Amino acid sequence: MTKERKILVTSALPYANGEIHIGHLVEYIQTDVWVRFQKMRGNRCVYVCADDTHGTAIMIAAKKEGISPEDYVARTAVSHQKDFAEFGIQFDNYGSTNSAETRRFCDEIWHAALKADLVCEREIEQLYDPVAETFLADRFVRGTCPTCGRKDQYGDNCECGATYSPTDLIDPVSTLSGAKPELRKSRHLFIELEKLHSFLNTWVAESGALQEEIVNYLKGQFLSEALFPWDISRPAPYFGFEIPDSPGNYWYVWFDAPIGYMGSMQQWCDKHGENFDQWWRNPETEIHHFIGKDICYFHTLFWPAMLHTAHFTMPKKVHIHGFLTVDGEKMSKSRGTFILARTWLNHLDPSYLRYFFSTKTSSRVDDLDLNLEEMELKVNADLVGNIVNIASRSAKFANLTGLAAVYPDDGGLFAQAAAQAEEIADAYEKREFGKAIRLILECGYRANKYIEESAPWAKRKELAALDKDPNADPAERERVFRELRDGVTVSLNLFRQIVIWLAPVLPELAAKTEKLLKTTFTQWDDAQQPLLGTTVAPYEYLMTRVPKEGIEKMIEESKVTIPAENVDAAPKWDDSAEPLAAEPLAETISIDDFLKVDLRVGRILEAELVPDARKLLKLKISLGGDQTRQVFAGIKAAYPEPEKLIGRLVVFVANLAPRQMKFGLSEGMVVASGPGGPEVFLTFPDEGSKPGYRLH
Ligand code: MSP
Ligand code: ZN
Repeated sequence: MTKERKILVTSALPYANGEIHIGHLVEYIQTDVWVRFQKMRGNRCVYVCADDTHGTAIMIAAKKEGISPEDYVARTAVSHQKDFAEFGIQFDNYGSTNSAETRRFCDEIWHAALKADLVCEREIEQLYDPVAETFLADRFVRGTCPTCGRKDQYGDNCECGATYSPTDLIDPVSTLSGAKPELRKSRHLFIELEKLHSFLNTWVAESGALQEEIVNYLKGQFLSEALFPWDISRPAPYFGFEIPDSPGNYWYVWFDAPIGYMGSMQQWCDKHGENFDQWWRNPETEIHHFIGKDICYFHTLFWPAMLHTAHFTMPKKVHIHGFLTVDGEKMSKSRGTFILARTWLNHLDPSYLRYFFSTKTSSRVDDLDLNLEEMELKVNADLVGNIVNIASRSAKFANLTGLAAVYPDDGGLFAQAAAQAEEIADAYEKREFGKAIRLILECGYRANKYIEESAPWAKRKELAALDKDPNADPAERERVFRELRDGVTVSLNLFRQIVIWLAPVLPELAAKTEKLLKTTFTQWDDAQQPLLGTTVAPYEYLMTRVPKEGIEKMIEESKVTIPAENVDAAPKWDDSAEPLAAEPLAETISIDDFLKVDLRVGRILEAELVPDARKLLKLKISLGGDQTRQVFAGIKAAYPEPEKLIGRLVVFVANLAPRQMKFGLSEGMVVASGPGGPEVFLTFPDEGSKPGYRLH
């Protein structure tokens, strides 16, 4: 037996201002499967999680309902834990970031950061809502996009793809109160991550904690340049912990969120008389974080930086998964595919989702798709048709015969499967659950083939006939009885092996099988020895086929109709007649006239100011491949920061005769509209278009 490992596992802490949905469950199910697997392997494994309770969003949600943030988060704590429990997700402790334990670790890490001289203070300007009396996170500001002029866009990005600072938005409005936000200065505290740059370089590249694609992403996107200081404070009002020695300032939610892992672990330690440092300041402990790709750099840069600074054990592995799509698309409230955990539970067996997600789980960061038809097919064919079928075709006879005392000759099937146990374990260990399940299903096919051949139903018939026959030879009856018993002994032992290996994924099925076979199996190695000489309980159904109407009802219940108030808020266009009056329509031309102009999509590769030219920008346009053109465009007043244009697609007149200008050769023209000066608007092709495409 190998040495027992000491493993501490976390899933990301769900925000307390929303219900658990099936996207979240991608993560919590896979973590739970992995943890259950580790426990069956005989490792000491502790799985902790908590609600992520701090921040502006929660403060505002509570205010809207007229309750305190504390009451608000207490309410979600109940519903989150109920949802998780019904999906079979078994935490060893479920805490809250708003706990005394979390606060204590915040203090500890904060003081370590101060001592390491990592904290600096800076004044920053932020939008402030004078009516709601709060600073505004980017997503609470909407306004007109400074790049394309679309109305009602978010504070930091627009549908057109442009990203900007909320202070650049035109006519910004606070979504909290409708007030016009004003710029206010406040002092924030920052962690100077750059001071830990070389540590992070080494940790990212050499610790082995990260998937290869993540290492490359971090190297390319972050570590190749100086790391920005990390803004970790927010001024009052804020729901969170006030920073010691900095009255009126609170730790930003993402500072204390991962520290919530520690708070929850401390609670577990207290309940079990364990010493925290024996877990988190112990190089022997393996720490495994499971997270989604959207919160990657918090866990792979900021968090390791804090752990290192405060001398805690670094994560052994950060397991990063992709995002869930449903039927190939982002979950959508209008299509009814934004499915809450609760809605699933109302209509379908949670085991279906645990199984389906597990078949799709691999160690890569790829997104995964829940196609509901595929889910139905897989559950019906693999679980009900293959696995459960083994039991349903043999258990009712076993109730009559019991299991043989000596394991019969099965042509090597049990041994063949037993020999695969380590390969299956290895797949679980590596988070290749899809592979583990494929191996297990193969065992199922072999078991079913065995049942076909041993045909217990035929033996049972034979036995019944002999029982009725007064002249039957007792030795003959004994022979048939033994054959029947041997057959079901083999079938049910092959079934038992499979259920042991599927137990991390399907704890419900495992529990029902334990009842059927009147036994318990808690250890992976239980599958190495057959179960013999015992009686078998009457067969009760283990799992049913997916009810079609369940899926339909679930989608129906998830569909959110857009409230009437929002329909009324649809934009009303009242475009002025002025532009047309200022420049009346030109005379009619033929299509051939039009086609003389070769309009192409081009990409702006370079954009720079031209020294001494009052109005011009110099652009380098790519038409795809190595075809590039240089143009001088009179758009400087409208686009004073030319670097923001780099990468964008434009419409380009490609067959205009080149023109020698004072500053160089201009080889075409970019198409724009507007009266001129600062009111010139480039024409941007719709998303998906490509350099070189012709416009017709
Ligand atoms: N509160 C932060 C995490 C703090 S951890 C110290 C957070 N919460 S969350 O509720 O938005 O997400 C919790 C976890 O669920 C994250 O790991 C996130 O990636 C994951 N998922 C949320 N929606 C998801 C999908 N649609 N698909 C897959 N995983 C998703 O982030
Ligand atoms: Zn825009």
